Parts: sequence; structure tokens; C-alpha cells
Amino acid sequence: MKIHVLTASMSLLFIAACSQPSADAEADAATTNIDYVGDSRSTVLDLKEALSSELQTAMQAAGIGAAIEVCRSLAQPITADISGRDAEKTIRRVALRYRNPANAADELSKSVMEQWIADLDDQQAAKPVVNQTMDSVIVHHPIILGANCLACHGDPDNFHPEVTKALSANYPNDNATGFEVGELRGAFRVEYTN
Ligand code: HEC
Repeated sequence: MKIHVLTASMSLLFIAACSQPSADAEADAATTNIDYVGDSRSTVLDLKEALSSELQTAMQAAGIGAAIEVCRSLAQPITADISGRDAEKTIRRVALRYRNPANAADELSKSVMEQWIADLDDQQAAKPVVNQTMDSVIVHHPIILGANCLACHGDPDNFHPEVTKALSANYPNDNATGFEVGELRGAFRVEYTN
């Protein structure tokens, strides 16, 4: 019974691992382009589900340290796979403070995320943002930190020893700790090209 309860709570944690809750990513039809926001949201959900299911499996099979290994080896290929399904659309995750340098933000993503941080500071919701350029449309959806992310992105003093060990082995320059619940963690960036 104890094992059962433990497995269930670990599963809950890892359903969300490497992904994010979308509560704050609701579109505001009045201020954003509804087609791009709606379409990109479905791609975001596909990616979240794919990451979550891989992690859940890893977690159930081998524990929290192994889940970080899975994140390290599979988060990028899973993202590339979802991205590759549509030739005109790519998705990636970006962050101001990142764990994997592959997720570093460019100037556009940085400015969107900095505006969201200002909005959150003003008690405003961070909402999806659509940017149109000459040859592309880029939609950012916010990633807000939830309580179930703290195990790997919260205060390192509270990390399980397996997490500390796996992070220092796999991400020696990790910048993605010290977050608090409700804080901006990053963005899903969906880009449409013609
Ligand atoms: C099991 C530990 C673990 C948990 C729990 C976890 N993450 Fe992560 N997260 C990682 C690892 C490892 C990476 C690096 C993946 C890679 O190499 O691409 C990562 C990367 C990310 C990234 C990409 C940006 C970056 O820093 O490279 C975001 C965004 C992110 N996590 C958000 C979250 C959110 C939101 C939650 C909670 C819903 C969460 N994570 C829960 C381990 C975790």
C-alpha cells in the first residue's frame, strides 16, 4: 500500500516534469490573433503530453535521478519530433534562466518574457503573444512554475540528493534553479514560416 501511494504521488509529480501547466496561457481573443494562438496551443499541448508521458514512464521505472537523465536525453529529440510534424511550424522551449543552453532565448523571446515578468509583477496574467515579421509569425505561450516543478527547479537546498547528483553530472552550468511557484519559468515558442 505504501509503495502504491508513493508511486501515485511520484507519477503526479512527473506528469508535469519537463513540461508546464497551461492555466495562465489562456488566450485573450480581444488582444491576440485567435487563429495562431489557438493553433499553437494545440502544438504546445502535444509537446507537453509527449514530455510528460516519457517522464512518467522513467519515473515509475527508475526514480527521480533517472527522470532527469530522461529529460536530458529525450527532451530535445521529443521537441524536435513534435516540431518536425509540420514543415511550416516549429516549436521549442526557451527561458531567460535555462538548464540546457539549447533553450536560450533570442532577443524577441527575451523581450516577450521580460514583459510577462513585468505583467506578473503588476498582478496581470502573462498571456500568449503573437509577433508577425516579414516571413514568419511567432507565438509565445508562458510557462509558469507550479509546485510540482520545485523538485528540480526550486531551492537547491531542498533537492533530493539524487536530483542534486543528476543535475551536477548532466548540467554543470545549470541556471534553472531557485524559482518560486507562480514565477515565470520560460516560454513555448511556436514559429510559423511560409
Ligand atoms: C525531474 C526533474 C524535473 C522536474 C520535476 C521538472 N523539470 Fe523542467 N527540466 C528538467 C531538466 C533536466 C531540463 C533540461 C531538459 C533539456 O536538457 O532540454 C528541464 C528543462 C525545462 C525547461 C526548458 C528550459 C531550460 O531550462 O532548459 C522548462 C521551461 C522547464 N524545464 C519547465 C518545467 C516546469 C514548468 C516544471 C513543472 C511543471 C518542470 N520543468 C519540472 C527537469 C525537471
